Amino acid sequence: MSNASDSRDPSSLRSARWFRPDDLRSFGHRSRLKGMGFDDADFRDRPIIALLNTWSDLNTCHSHFRERTLEIKRGVLQAGGFPVEIPVLSLSEMLMKPTTMLYRNLLAMETEEVLRAHPVDACVLMGGCDKTVPAMLMGAISADIPSIFFPAGPMLNARWRNTTLGSGTDAWKYWNERCAGNLCDGDWQEIENCIARSAGTCMTMGTASTMACIAESLGFTLPRASSIPAVVAEHSRLAVSTGRTAVELAWNQRKPSRFLRENSFRNAMTVQLAIGGSTNAMVHMIAMSRRAGFPLTLRDYDQLSRQIPVIANIRPSGKYLMEDFHRAGGLPGLIRQLGELFDLNSERVDGTRFIDDIPHAMILDDDVLRAMTDPVYPNGGTCVLYGNLAPEGCVIKSSAASKELLKHRGQAVVFRGYADLKARIHSEDLQVAPESILVLQDAGPIGAPGMPEWGMLPIPNKLLRRGVRDMVRISDARMSGTSYGTCILHVSPESRAGGPLGLVQDGDWIELDVESRRIDWLVSPETVQQREANRTCDTSGPGRGYTHLFTRHVTQAHQGCDFDFLEGRDPGREPDIF
Ligand code: FES
Repeated sequence: MSNASDSRDPSSLRSARWFRPDDLRSFGHRSRLKGMGFDDADFRDRPIIALLNTWSDLNTCHSHFRERTLEIKRGVLQAGGFPVEIPVLSLSEMLMKPTTMLYRNLLAMETEEVLRAHPVDACVLMGGCDKTVPAMLMGAISADIPSIFFPAGPMLNARWRNTTLGSGTDAWKYWNERCAGNLCDGDWQEIENCIARSAGTCMTMGTASTMACIAESLGFTLPRASSIPAVVAEHSRLAVSTGRTAVELAWNQRKPSRFLRENSFRNAMTVQLAIGGSTNAMVHMIAMSRRAGFPLTLRDYDQLSRQIPVIANIRPSGKYLMEDFHRAGGLPGLIRQLGELFDLNSERVDGTRFIDDIPHAMILDDDVLRAMTDPVYPNGGTCVLYGNLAPEGCVIKSSAASKELLKHRGQAVVFRGYADLKARIHSEDLQVAPESILVLQDAGPIGAPGMPEWGMLPIPNKLLRRGVRDMVRISDARMSGTSYGTCILHVSPESRAGGPLGLVQDGDWIELDVESRRIDWLVSPETVQQREANRTCDTSGPGRGYTHLFTRHVTQAHQGCDFDFLEGRDPGREPDIF
């Protein structure tokens, strides 16, 4: 760690404002800590390190965080800090409805305010399950208080009989087989019993693994942190060293603004494309970059996507799982394969530069971490499309889609919201053919609300039985990073915000041409005008509470779905002390 500004002067610590003055308020702060059983040796003149913990009994991916908390605290104590644990909103992807995305900004806001309001010199952000990662990073960037991210780590590979199972990806696959009548109840039960083998996040390259890789690429973690499986000893050692590092961050004032640069975000975007990462990460990256003052756009993604092939052979784009990714060399190995496309002069939170270690990174399996000359998928693994159906853009993960559908013309079968989809999709009366295009409206940030992962619309059972396994699907929703198929997502502006998607009707022709980055709705301008004049759009929204706040202030997908009043940073704003 660089120690150019390491003063080790306790009066320079942020927490000194709380504990050093000889006044009545500081007396109160100290005496109440003493009432908890601490004495001066515990907290006086030591950096206070907050562990922001997203543990909950209902967050299946963070069930090991109680032990990791003890290990991080051990590291903090070893380095002379005072560790304090602060529980924050957990955002359990598997158990929260309608979607954790509805609450990402709430956790971001909580992270920022919790850090600002307390005597915190540095913090460890303990997250992992999908939205916890961007939420905590967004909050830390805005608060601009030294922060290091500790990823929950992926689950161990799962096995069913002699088959490897990956979270999400294989659940969708076998569910389709069950719906097609190819899998009996007993088999399905066995899969349920073994697809989640341990604590940890989804072990495919879903949103959690993608966001962990992004956190590491931005420099927010210790090297190789993003892929260490959740339940191995190496993960415990990562916890201890993360705790130790947090103390150094406090003394050295390594705030996010000290190491995050425009190129940090370009690096992270490059990595996201090279790992065949979740499309959700595009929304999160745009939000984080706008907080940091280096705003990314969908056009930046499109430009970079034309140069970056997918080289991580991980499901859903490839074959392996995160445990294999780690064994093969993890993110340092992947970055090494990227060569000059990754700026190695970028700094990490601890003051090291990628160039210090990436040139020596090991690549132990080049079928998992492919060379640039032998990619899993050529450039354009994730594409941004524009056209009269998506004036502000939409995205498709081409690397996880059917090649033959990437250029397609079909007639729309429209569902007006998720309830309509659920009620009719498997109806034997549904007028649908394999070449139809399934359209889901009203599933965007405001419409749903929260832009749930409904974008991988189910294939109608009657087509599944005929052997159809993929169709073109279009929505203003997101899809799980573990999903696959020819799904056009994040259509912006969304239906509820007056986007053209809301005007599409059954039978309209739509043309998709991924190579030309086009999505065209083949109706006349007069028809559009006429439908616009008759559009009825419910803009009333929920009447109270957090959802009321959300629907009035969330931005569109191409802008990152942050709250309009939370964008940017608020560096140096300290609470008044009375
Ligand atoms: Fe938590 Fe997938 S459900 S990471």
